[in-house]
Amino acid sequence: MSTKPTTTQTGAPVPSDEHSLTVGNDGTTALHDRYLVEKLAQFNRERIPERIVHAKGGGAFGTFVATGDVSQYTTAAVFQPGAESETLLRFSSVAGEQGSPDTWRDVRGFSVKFYTTEGNYDIVGNNTPVFFIRDAIKFPDFIHSQKRLPGSGLRDADMQWDFWTLSPESAHQVTYLMGDRGLPKSWRHLQGYGSHTYQWINAAGERFWVKYHFHSNQGVERLDNAEAEAIAGADADHYRRDLYEAIEREEFPSWDVKVQVMPYDDAKDYRFNPFDLTKIWPHEDYPLIPVGRLELNRNPENFFAEIEQAAFSPANLVPGIDISPDKMLMARVFSYPDAQRYRVGTNYQQIPVNSAHAAEVNSYTRDGAQRHHFPPATAPNYAPNSFGGPVADPELARAGSWESDGALVRTAATLHAEDDDFGQPGSLYRDVFDADAKARFLETLSGQAQAITVDDIRERFFVYWTNVDADLGAALRSAYAGDATAAA
Ligand code: HEM
Repeated sequence: MSTKPTTTQTGAPVPSDEHSLTVGNDGTTALHDRYLVEKLAQFNRERIPERIVHAKGGGAFGTFVATGDVSQYTTAAVFQPGAESETLLRFSSVAGEQGSPDTWRDVRGFSVKFYTTEGNYDIVGNNTPVFFIRDAIKFPDFIHSQKRLPGSGLRDADMQWDFWTLSPESAHQVTYLMGDRGLPKSWRHLQGYGSHTYQWINAAGERFWVKYHFHSNQGVERLDNAEAEAIAGADADHYRRDLYEAIEREEFPSWDVKVQVMPYDDAKDYRFNPFDLTKIWPHEDYPLIPVGRLELNRNPENFFAEIEQAAFSPANLVPGIDISPDKMLMARVFSYPDAQRYRVGTNYQQIPVNSAHAAEVNSYTRDGAQRHHFPPATAPNYAPNSFGGPVADPELARAGSWESDGALVRTAATLHAEDDDFGQPGSLYRDVFDADAKARFLETLSGQAQAITVDDIRERFFVYWTNVDADLGAALRSAYAGDATAAA
């Protein structure tokens, strides 16, 4: 047992954690009970805003080892053969709030931070390889439709399906969401994807387009609707508990990391826009190449400090890796650091979980609320300077780039033969889902049809799924008609 004295935040011992300072037993409380004031005031400030999306989550630390050899595609130190990097992985659900049940149907976040010798590198992905929209300007509207009605504060099937059916590019991701991926058995039993196309650059300056895949070594497992509902009632933190307890038992979950690599010039005349986040690249065109293995082996010591304050961002890139001309990704590079400056604070990158663990930070940014680290007094605070301050590397300016031309526009031109919205979701439903998965999908979607209360939106729902697959659309219509007859 600890015999250390309780202290104030400034280290002075305190007289009591049970009795405030009062005038006699039932007299007034003294305002100068500075420890009482400190305790209450600090308590009032314990919460920070939850993430605007992916609020409910959990995570753990681990190790990534580059077991493959992708050095012909990228110079990134983290992916050089044999390199070992400390990592942090956070899982999450998109739409719910901090206290939401883990097993509500949703896409799951899969955010990885690699603490590399060249700075922190983040892959902020999901358990699906595609996304609902392809232009960031729609993101706030999409999220509003998935969260709560402004009046009643309730979640609402009408607004979800109104948005999705008016945004046909959502069909691929909604097929994943309403299928088995929407209800994983646990965070350990799901795949991760970088989803976007990223850019890799090799030592000769050659550029490649890549997509990341994280394959669970625990296998991919799912829950049924009824099971998920029962767990949601019994244990809202089911996934968080499962991960924490598995690591405590030293059953360390792991994922094999692989990439698809597209030669730079293929992008120009591929069958569809390879930067479109609503599309996957077929493996027969671009097979998986092994990169390494990621293992989670250390629980956080403090959930708030290390998971709640963790700040993942597609803007955290390292030499040899860059973004692609995906409109979503370009906007995410702005959005995350902006969100984190608001949510965690200006100097969020100096908090231990977000700071560089394996690289030195030499920067001319300075000051701001709660600045912790600062350069020596003699270091110059402007560039260029004649006093030995850090110098930027112009070589890096050539690295992450692409050719681009044209007037400023607000359009989404379809320049490739297969730039459609329904082809890939149709193949996913017909060719990837087996008969049981199809039956579960139909059951889930039939439940959704019931939940929609506006006839026009329900009609668009049937048309949307008919566009994905004509037989599926017909089956949904007749299931709904049957249910409606049964209910009458
Ligand atoms: C333009 C579209 C998008 C915007 C504007 C956006 C914005 C955001 C914001 C502001 C956060 C909260 C960040 C924080 O407070 O720390 C967030 C979290 C997250 N987003 Fe996005 N997002 C977009 C698309 C995506 C996509 C396409 C994916 C996956 C491929 C994704 C995956 C995630 C994940 C996993 C988190 C949680 C990060 C964590 O674990 O802390 N988002 N997003």
